[in-house]
Amino acid sequence: MKDIQKVLKKLEYGVYVVTMGRGTQGNAFTASWISQISSEPPMVALAVHNKHQSSRLIKENKAFAVNLIGSGQEAVAKTYYGPAESGYEKLAGTSVKDSPRTGTPLLPGAIGYLDCLLVDTVQAGNHTLFIGRVKAASLDDSDSQLMTTTNSKLYYTG
Ligand SMILES: Cc1cc2nc3c(=O)[nH]c(=O)nc-3n(C[C@H](O)[C@H](O)[C@H](O)COP(=O)(O)O)c2cc1C
Repeated sequence: MKDIQKVLKKLEYGVYVVTMGRGTQGNAFTASWISQISSEPPMVALAVHNKHQSSRLIKENKAFAVNLIGSGQEAVAKTYYGPAESGYEKLAGTSVKDSPRTGTPLLPGAIGYLDCLLVDTVQAGNHTLFIGRVKAASLDDSDSQLMTTTNSKLYYTG
């Protein structure tokens, strides 16, 4: 088991903030277990721990947004890795914008986003895989560097 964990920890990921809900009645959490899984149509998958409020909230809203965080913005990632209490309070007081296709709150200061409609879920051990079809996307500046588990030294082990 120790060997498996050691090798899994070598894998590199982007560090994102995933949002869901409506306006300030939304939730946000730092996430890194995210990958593109189809190009036609464009789809991504996101693994969320079954105990996290976000797992219930993505199912409830049937949509989520992947907010891309710039390298050096560790403070943003750290703001959202604390657990939600009721589930819809983490974005209260944040001036979010609605995403164009699913109306999901978008995080101010993100360098880009993927606006995703939930199309399927797959149970994967203690996590659920949320499969999203990307309906809209935007990038502020194509030269911006993404925060990663390597450049931020932030890491998720589940
Ligand atoms: C760098 C980093 C990456 C993370 N990636 C994930 C992830 O992919 N899936 C997940 O369920 N939790 C992940 N987490 C943990 C959640 O951000 C954290 O448990 C959060 O409290 C869950 O939010 P919620 O309680 O609002 O659902 C990550 C944490 C950090 C610091």
